[in-house]
Amino acid sequence: MGVLAVDGGTPVWDKPWPTWPIYGEREATLLQRALDSGQWAYDGPLEAEFQRGFADYHTARHGVCVTSGTIALQLALEAADIGVGDEVILPANTWQATAVAVLDVNAIPILVDIEPETYMLDLDKAEAAITPRTRAIIPVHLYNNVTEMDRVMALARKHNLTVIEDCAHSHGSRWRGQGVGTVGAMGCFSLQSSKSLNAGEGGIIITNDDQLHERLYSLRNCGRMRPDADAGQWQAVQGGNYRMTEWQAAILCAQFERLPEQVERRHANARILDEQLGSFEGLQPLRKPAQVTRQGMYRYVLRYDAECFNEVPVAAFRRALSAEIGEWVGGVYHPLTQSPLYQPLTKRRYHLSEEHKEALDPARFAAPVAERAYASEAVLLGHVAMLAEPSAMRAIVDACHKLYEHRDELAAWALRDAEG
Ligand SMILES: Cc1ncc(COP(=O)(O)O)c(C=O)c1O
Repeated sequence: MGVLAVDGGTPVWDKPWPTWPIYGEREATLLQRALDSGQWAYDGPLEAEFQRGFADYHTARHGVCVTSGTIALQLALEAADIGVGDEVILPANTWQATAVAVLDVNAIPILVDIEPETYMLDLDKAEAAITPRTRAIIPVHLYNNVTEMDRVMALARKHNLTVIEDCAHSHGSRWRGQGVGTVGAMGCFSLQSSKSLNAGEGGIIITNDDQLHERLYSLRNCGRMRPDADAGQWQAVQGGNYRMTEWQAAILCAQFERLPEQVERRHANARILDEQLGSFEGLQPLRKPAQVTRQGMYRYVLRYDAECFNEVPVAAFRRALSAEIGEWVGGVYHPLTQSPLYQPLTKRRYHLSEEHKEALDPARFAAPVAERAYASEAVLLGHVAMLAEPSAMRAIVDACHKLYEHRDELAAWALRDAEG
């Protein structure tokens, strides 16, 4: 029996972690209210209340609920009139949805590598990827960071690009005191069950632009005009059914009441990890821009350097850390250059021409930093764990130190484990 928990030793932390979703009487009350209202589909009072509250919390004038974060991105692209042959820049390290939304409007996703220290879109490489066809850029505020929005906006002004922020991971984050999603033209949030605000499934788009608001409403509701829209602001548009139900809105209203306190708690816990691991050899928190005045979160990311841990592979380190703390520890998304879930060439719908098909091939893009993050570097903690008491954060720090001190045992265990 070794000292390390993964090797039969005593774990650093054996108390329970928070579980997800967190809910109570309030969710039940609002679901009952939706039931009794008889208004079970779209445009109900709870949906209106959620849209208003969520938009306010992110300093936006408008919010439009939709079926998912993926559809939020698709409709934002359509509202900005992005379509066939247009190029849209996005980071290679993101969930496949960011690129799939671009595919689904017949535009071409241009995969650009991420920065090594922030894991956000590399804006030098993004600028180098701009061509006369580039129409939009999607900064993705992934995990627990925010893209350098001042630089994104300067790039967009210089090259006349629409900025659509993918905020699926960043409910509550603020850039210079402004809600994420309002720095660019539109911000798209996922409300899917794993996210820090959830209704099982769902999405919301926020914007400060009155005309985009009207277009987004029509796009999600079969082309109809918003009931209290100014007819002068409205133009006919081909829409579809991307509406949210009042059931989802009921859950969201209740969950949203919990969100501000949860955001603060995660932010405070992240500070503990940032401070206590900031000078730790071999495990570095992401570098975060100083303009991030409030940090929402989906995952808390550490960058692992195997050289400091006797070349123990990151996957083995993650298992050992997970055993010490008794909680999930994971890795980043598969880079889209190599992702089994991003296969644009397999769908007939995208085969508009040979040239278009070739432009979609993910293998034509290089993303060595995203590939390294996936293969050998990233160590992630979940946003649910980040709701735990501060002593749990200190246990994570202690567990990291323990693994470092016992890196010889860790390496020996990893070797035995690899040999089966
Ligand atoms: C970065 C990012 N963008 C978009 C989405 C899509 O959201 P949804 O699953 O609600 O369609 C996700 C979902 O995980 C995501 O992580």
